[in-house]
Amino acid sequence: MNKKTSRPGADIGMVGLGVMGRNFVLNMADHGFSVAGLDKDAAKVAALHTEAEQRDVRGAADIKEFVALLRHPRAIMMLVPAGAPVDSVIADLLPHLEKGDLIVDAGNSHFSDTDARTLQLTAKGIQFLGVGVSGGAEGARHGPSIMPGGTKEAYERVRPVFEAAAAQINGEPCVTLLGPGSAGHYVKMVHNGIEYGLMQLLAETYDLMKRGLGLSDDELHEFYAGWNQGELAGYLVEITGDIFSKRDKKTGRRLVDEVLDVARQNGTGKWTSESALDLQVPVPTIDAGVAMRNLSTLAGERATASAALPRPARPFAGDSKIFLEQLRGGLFAATIIAYAQGMALLKTASDKYAYGLDLSAVARIWRGGCIIRSAALDHFREAYRIQPTLPNLLLDPEIGKTVMAHQEDLRVVVATAAQLGLPAPGLMSALGYLDAYRSAWLPANLIQAQRDYFGAHTYERIDAKGTFHSEWTAKASA
Ligand code: 6PG
Repeated sequence: MNKKTSRPGADIGMVGLGVMGRNFVLNMADHGFSVAGLDKDAAKVAALHTEAEQRDVRGAADIKEFVALLRHPRAIMMLVPAGAPVDSVIADLLPHLEKGDLIVDAGNSHFSDTDARTLQLTAKGIQFLGVGVSGGAEGARHGPSIMPGGTKEAYERVRPVFEAAAAQINGEPCVTLLGPGSAGHYVKMVHNGIEYGLMQLLAETYDLMKRGLGLSDDELHEFYAGWNQGELAGYLVEITGDIFSKRDKKTGRRLVDEVLDVARQNGTGKWTSESALDLQVPVPTIDAGVAMRNLSTLAGERATASAALPRPARPFAGDSKIFLEQLRGGLFAATIIAYAQGMALLKTASDKYAYGLDLSAVARIWRGGCIIRSAALDHFREAYRIQPTLPNLLLDPEIGKTVMAHQEDLRVVVATAAQLGLPAPGLMSALGYLDAYRSAWLPANLIQAQRDYFGAHTYERIDAKGTFHSEWTAKASA
């Protein structure tokens, strides 16, 4: 696909003209591509026409009209909610398409759905790409991180438009073909899992500063904004700082304090945990993010329990200034550990599903546009460049050194949270993961023994190969 083509018809189509879809259309048009949009909702088509101004953009509410706007072979993106809506759009499109046309699902589809659709469409001679897009409405408009999966042939058709529309970091577009089939959607899912973990870690540091140290919203704003200037720099830290300075129009107070303490989810974090369990890859900090959102929804029970099971009335007894610096360091260590868990999951999934992921490229395209973009990703990119098959980021000498430099901070933070009775399962799980991962010996021998004791599940020995069973009860062996 070459931009500013002289051939008739739009370069690319977009199905779903919600804010994300419209913004992506405008982004592509800004880079010289002609775009056609489709939405059953005429109001959204009208909104597109208004926003498009002089750009080469046309909207339609009728599928026939939309398909007729596209040049052959057609390339059609869709940005619609995951699940049934994707299948329904595909079913609606198919009667109007020809062999060689391309469908691009740019929503948050489950990777197994993407595999099924790839098979279904390939059998019909339709090309298919499953593409993760991160960055929210703002990213879609001005440069998201784009995570495509599918065949090279299909990707080449949209590469120019994706490379132009993606976020650019030092002249490099935040997009690359990640691998075949569902590779793109898998990577996007894990991106979101890491997102859940990082958001939970930030929420816990907020709680420690607010309920633990009694900091005001102004001070919280200052701390997160300051942290965003150093090694913690990243989009989620940045927006956290912004949030504490935002006033509520209705009450004049800080908006964050008017927001209900119940965190909802669309499910991509849960999918990450599910997939990690299936592949037996430990991702406890991501799991903690999912679990704490679930726990937050138990608002009524929490209210009852807070009266029945009061928190220890123990004020913070340390030096706030020192602790705040330890909190910064501990958060940084936990942040790296959360990324390390997600990247380790990607490594195993890549082997299992034959994605052939280049983890250095994953880190590279996450440096701009996406929700988990952060300064640390430059280091992760370099770590995987040096050792492409690194099993875990913590084993990179530089990254390992950084985590070790902050491990005492994380210990103090976790111990303080425990003493104050403030929930910190994200931070605690990160520390637990670190301590377990670098533990040459784990008490899992006892678990093997217990399984063999009660279920004759057998155990392995240190001094001999094979599996063994013993009669563990005194009675049985007597
Ligand atoms: C992104 C976001 C985006 C979406 C999340 C929200 O990368 O742009 O991750 O995909 O905002 O899916 O997820 P929850 O609703 O589950 O928090």
